[in-house]
Amino acid sequence: MQEIKINLKDNSYSVFIGDLKNLEFGSKVAILSNQKVAGLHLKTLLERIKAPQISIISVPDGEAYKNLKTIEQILEQMFCSYLDRKSTLIALGGGVISDMGGFAASIYERGIDFINIPTTLLACVDASVGGKTGVNNAFGKNLIGSFYQPRAVYCDSAFLATLPSRELRAGMAEVIKMAVMFDKDFFDYLVNFDLSGDLAGFYDEIINKCVRLKASVVAQDEKENGVRAVLNYGHTFAHVIERQSGYGEFLHGEAVGMGIIMANELALRLNLLSLDDANKIKACLARFNLALNYKIKDANAFYNAFYLDKKSANNKIKFILPNGKIGSYCLRDDIDKSVVLDVLQGLK
Ligand SMILES: NC(=O)c1ccc[n+]([C@@H]2O[C@H](COP(=O)([O-])OP(=O)(O)OC[C@H]3O[C@@H](n4cnc5c(N)ncnc54)[C@H](O)[C@@H]3O)[C@@H](O)[C@H]2O)c1
Ligand SMILES: [Zn+2]
Repeated sequence: MQEIKINLKDNSYSVFIGDLKNLEFGSKVAILSNQKVAGLHLKTLLERIKAPQISIISVPDGEAYKNLKTIEQILEQMFCSYLDRKSTLIALGGGVISDMGGFAASIYERGIDFINIPTTLLACVDASVGGKTGVNNAFGKNLIGSFYQPRAVYCDSAFLATLPSRELRAGMAEVIKMAVMFDKDFFDYLVNFDLSGDLAGFYDEIINKCVRLKASVVAQDEKENGVRAVLNYGHTFAHVIERQSGYGEFLHGEAVGMGIIMANELALRLNLLSLDDANKIKACLARFNLALNYKIKDANAFYNAFYLDKKSANNKIKFILPNGKIGSYCLRDDIDKSVVLDVLQGLK
């Protein structure tokens, strides 16, 4: 079991990576999950928990239900279970469950403890750590929410054994994102690891590495006023792809993979990346079956959709790009519209 500390003044906590240990609570606990994940993994979790009362809260599966209506249902079930301010909510599932669990915990009686037990690769390496919680609404993704840190996160890669391979691949996009932005050695590890054997050790290693990288970013910039935005490499483009394709065609990670390729095209144009490195990144995405080319139908419409992104402030579009080499990043909000449009035209 590895322990990684997320250092945040009053809100510090640990991420534990490895076999899920026994968890003991002095007061009531509620476990939030969905039918699919609960069917696969609730029993294992229940065997590990000791608490005076354990209630189970189940919500429908899927991003489509990540909204305020479901939050109300969760809160209702929390009240029906008589949770009090000393109780703990445990989120067992992927990023959808942890985002909603964290948000519900942050507003239930002005905030109770919550714990993340991620069961997807994406949630292990990204969503379960860092305290961004929230839901979607008609205006876009994750537009309602709060910064609310969990008390602890337990990443046990044994849960990933039941995850469909498409979901595993989607998680890899976020892993590759971290490597390209922050760590060339980690990138080389992803490129060279022999994927033909047992991958349990591989997943433990990449979860470990990504959590360490994310811990350092979040500790520097909890509320995303600076470096935390770097975690959105590829996302400015990915969010438009997801919106344009109606949030159903591609998984988030798949869109991120395509978004990384687009961001790199822009970086190439600005001489921020060599063709050799761009090709290496593409090959790494392809290694995990992620190198899809998204065909942009209308470059102007694609560009205008950037403005809907939370990340664009004062009408300036912020691009997160490699900075000269793999393992180095820059944030740019000064790129001429004509340059970006030209790159987008080239992606038709
Ligand atoms: N808060 C953050 O910092 C942050 C970061 C990245 C992403 N996110 C959010 O995370 C969400 C995406 O998360 P996700 O990719 O985990 O999707 P998800 O939670 O929808 O899970 C994907 C699918 O896998 C199923 N599943 C989960 N664990 C399983 C398992 N072990 N075996 C079999 N099936 C399993 C789920 O029921 C679901 O159908 C998005 O809503 C995104 O906005 C949040
Ligand atoms: Zn993402």
